[in-house]
Amino acid sequence: MMETKSVGIIGIGTYVPEKVMTNKDLERIVDTSDEWIVERTGIQERRIAAPDMATSDLASRAAQKALDDAGVTAEEIDLIIVATATPDMFFPSTACLVQANIKAVNAAAFDLAAGCSGFVYAMVTGSQFIKAGLYKKILVIGAECLSRILDWTDRNTCVLFGDGAGAAVLAETDPGYGILGSQLGADGSGGDLLKLPGGGSRNPATGETVSLRMHFVHMNGNEVFKFAVKIMGEAANKALEDAGLSAADVDCLIPHQANIRIIQSAAKRLKLPMDKVMINVNKYGNTSAASIPIALEEAVHGGKIKQGDNVVLVGFGAGLTWASAVIKWGKEANINC
Ligand code: UT7
Repeated sequence: MMETKSVGIIGIGTYVPEKVMTNKDLERIVDTSDEWIVERTGIQERRIAAPDMATSDLASRAAQKALDDAGVTAEEIDLIIVATATPDMFFPSTACLVQANIKAVNAAAFDLAAGCSGFVYAMVTGSQFIKAGLYKKILVIGAECLSRILDWTDRNTCVLFGDGAGAAVLAETDPGYGILGSQLGADGSGGDLLKLPGGGSRNPATGETVSLRMHFVHMNGNEVFKFAVKIMGEAANKALEDAGLSAADVDCLIPHQANIRIIQSAAKRLKLPMDKVMINVNKYGNTSAASIPIALEEAVHGGKIKQGDNVVLVGFGAGLTWASAVIKWGKEANINC
């Protein structure tokens, strides 16, 4: 049987906007309190993109940092996949805008829509092109300007989200390193639980869709919470099984940063102590497709992840979708992280 290539992350970078919005700032906008938000979600503050910045701007900055970290030039990139729920516009794709910004003139480019699971979906998708021998170096990016699609009069949603971007360069790694296992999943019957109903071909933009606030995030928080608590542990275990490992082998868990209570319950289900779990939801809120790469970068560059560690990424989101992956971190010749 032909030996399959090992594919891993050889560089990672992030960008978050400078503007910080605290829970106290939100108290001035909607009927909420710092106490409620911290207790129910763990979020203390989030970043908000400057008015002249869109998702492709955040994505391009993160991408450039990932290229620098990997020691790879933009011309070497064969493919760019941008996972986002907040593209600059319907078309062209945000990936094409990034391609032009960073001058990745040899890269194919497309967007991928899988909600907050998007980065892991993009990483697993991208890795297949390298395994198949079609491409050598791929940029996968999770980037969001969620502040643009939030209803700032709806306290149920506007306190939860933030803006940001995270990018990773994928390439072949030494055998035994890189992505060892994964699971991608979807349950479209839960699509109504988290959606942006206006502006698409179902409800094209009209004065009425605007007045009905259909161009904002609509979410059934309780139902999404229940789904998340169930799926996070299950999906992580499926990827571990695929890798031939178990939860006892995990050195670091990088969960989607939506809510501290969801993260704690996932850790509990996996019987992982919290010191093996990366948490930064307090600083950035839920940045959807950007949350996992932002947390991963912080864990890698902050020294929480070391060469040879088994790292599990797991996320859930709109779709409904879920995605998980196990990565054996690092590669002797290529260890930039
Ligand atoms: O990436 C995927 C994106 N989505 C998620 O991750 C969301 C998952 N869901 C959650 O994180 C939680 O369900 C929420 C944080 C959204 C809500 O927390 P909860 O503990 O499930 O609260 P709840 O929805 O049951 O609401 C409890 C109360 C309600 O008041 P009443 O009806 O009991 O009087 C809400 O109106 O809290 C109220 N409430 C708030 N109060 C102050 C809801 N939002 C706020 C708020 N400030 N921001």
